[in-house]
Amino acid sequence: MGNRTKERLGRIDTDTNLHNKLLKYCRLNYGEVWTDPISGHKVGVIDATYPEAVKKLFDGQRATLLINDPPYNIDVGNVNTKHLFKIKIEKYIEFSKKWINSSLQILDENAHFYVWLGADYRENFQPLPDFMILMRDYSELKPRNFITMRNQRGYGTQKNWMWIRQELLHYIKGNPQFNVVYTDIPKILKGGYYKKVKGKKTDTSQRSKSNTIRPGNVWVDIQQVFYRMEENVPGCYAQKPIKAITRIIETSSKPGDLITDFFAHSGTTLIAGELTGRKVYTFDVDPVFAEITIRRLEHYRQTGKTGWQWHNPFTETD
Ligand SMILES: C[S@@+](CC[C@H](N)C(=O)[O-])C[C@H]1O[C@@H](n2cnc3c(N)ncnc32)[C@H](O)[C@@H]1O
Repeated sequence: MGNRTKERLGRIDTDTNLHNKLLKYCRLNYGEVWTDPISGHKVGVIDATYPEAVKKLFDGQRATLLINDPPYNIDVGNVNTKHLFKIKIEKYIEFSKKWINSSLQILDENAHFYVWLGADYRENFQPLPDFMILMRDYSELKPRNFITMRNQRGYGTQKNWMWIRQELLHYIKGNPQFNVVYTDIPKILKGGYYKKVKGKKTDTSQRSKSNTIRPGNVWVDIQQVFYRMEENVPGCYAQKPIKAITRIIETSSKPGDLITDFFAHSGTTLIAGELTGRKVYTFDVDPVFAEITIRRLEHYRQTGKTGWQWHNPFTETD
């Protein structure tokens, strides 16, 4: 067995010894912000529930797109940790209100607002419905869509359907632009809606510009990140696929725009922003995840790789 491929770092959020060891190698302390000398991105160690700190990081600038992936309030891999926490739903809603208020301070007059969330059937599907109802209090944010992304791996027993979904809520402020994108999934069904074009009967699939289908609001074509993929970041348990974040960025912003993510973790939004020519302001309350986010960008620029696969981002600890 000896040389079996395995992630070179344990789960940072659950292993306190590891977390404390890594803190030594973090360039930012709480409240500090790193500014990227090349593309002007910013990465901070900030608490999303403090509007003043968020406002300070933005320094008067406004984001046209926000993609937030807060802790889901569900035991991830059956553990409850300080930053991927599980708290009473009332507290979770208080937490959500605070970061929504922080968001409202830095959103452009026309902006997209996306939130990843989950639902726990063992607790009446919290927090998804509670969060949706909370959002009714924010009249400036209008519901636009409700996307479900399908995971390949799920959890469940023989007695239940496998749980393989992640939810993405889409709201808008004002009237932001939306760009149509396509998947790589070929059209396999006839579209219906016959119409005559130049005297010939055509269906919708024949009339459309692409041979592949649009993503719609159920995404089945995005590979969940695992340790053999180049983009994998060891130690990060809640990493989102670059493809999912890129899809949001391309539909809901244009090159040169300022976009933001208040829960950086493995830094996926930063990498996706770099790849698509957007400027990203992002932060995490945990200095270790802010450090990983910065390192991921630096590593990408040095090697062209979007992650470390199973290798250690903190080589000084090897
Ligand atoms: C679900 S993860 C985000 C995953 C990320 N989208 C990715 O692809 O890597 C949530 C992150 O939020 C951070 N976090 C928890 N509470 C926070 C707070 N109050 N302010 C900022 N970040 C917080 C955690 O440390 C964790 O890294």
